Amino acid sequence: MIAGRYARFTLGEAAVVSEGQRLLDQYACRRCHVIGNRGNRLAADLDQATKRKAPEELATAILKPVQNMPAFHLADSQVDTLVNALLQAAAGRKGAAPAAGPQVVHFDRGGETGQDLFSKKCGPCHRALTARLGALGRGEAGPNLSGLLSPWYPPTFRERQAWTQTSLSTWLKNPRTVRPWARMQPVVLTEPEVRELVDILRVEPDRESRTGAAAQGNGGQVPPRGRP
Ligand code: HEC
Ligand code: HEC
Repeated sequence: MIAGRYARFTLGEAAVVSEGQRLLDQYACRRCHVIGNRGNRLAADLDQATKRKAPEELATAILKPVQNMPAFHLADSQVDTLVNALLQAAAGRKGAAPAAGPQVVHFDRGGETGQDLFSKKCGPCHRALTARLGALGRGEAGPNLSGLLSPWYPPTFRERQAWTQTSLSTWLKNPRTVRPWARMQPVVLTEPEVRELVDILRVEPDRESRTGAAAQGNGGQVPPRGRP
């Protein structure tokens, strides 16, 4: 039995359903999670999690996130709406679970800085889950860059464009050519360093992402400033 507040989507409450979708997009949960069979596999598959966990546990996981999940500082009502959205997405997932993606391991560095390029050059201000190196960085000044170069990161480059190697290079040379008010200072990297960074941030696209995400990924929503 699902408590009423988490079962509103089953009653066809259109407002809950659309608000849930909007929150998933606004906070770009699919940067890290598969939800309704779509998204990156950098953290737990939430379609599976809804089968193992009670809605109350999912709500707690969002309200009091573990170390490598951003704290979104949401109101209880927003968390309820998100849990409804997760349950609805999992219920709509057709067929069996897809072949598991690469196993993701989150290394615990115990607060130590890694020796990779991201940890050194970006880690003081950013965090990111990566397919190859696990959880990197420990700064909170800038957004969490998990899945930056995938279709599931919000298109926050110029005019709602997605981030690519080229746009990332442009940004790093001088963020203010992209956003006049950017607080981030230029970061000088050589071309090989840019390629190394791209290799660290790269996420293998799953089939759904390649076909569906560009069209429907996050609805072109630009998140508010300050999204973690
Ligand atoms: C930067 C990556 C990242 C983002 C973005 C993110 N999460 Fe998470 N989330 C994690 C990690 C890491 C865990 C811990 C489980 C794991 O390591 O896979 C987690 C765990 C969870 C769990 C518990 C899963 C379980 O198996 O117990 C829920 C529920 C959840 N996240 C919901 C959300 C929602 C909803 C959003 C968007 C509002 C979101 N997450 C955004 C990284 C992220
Ligand atoms: C001294 C802190 C600092 C360092 C170091 C830093 N950044 Fe940032 N970054 C920020 C801040 C603050 C923002 C928020 C946007 C702004 O500048 O207003 C940001 C924004 C970004 C954005 C835009 C993301 C979005 O969704 O809006 C990208 C991409 C980015 N940084 C990439 C990087 C990369 C890659 C590195 C390492 C090579 C790096 N940053 C190093 C502070 C930093």
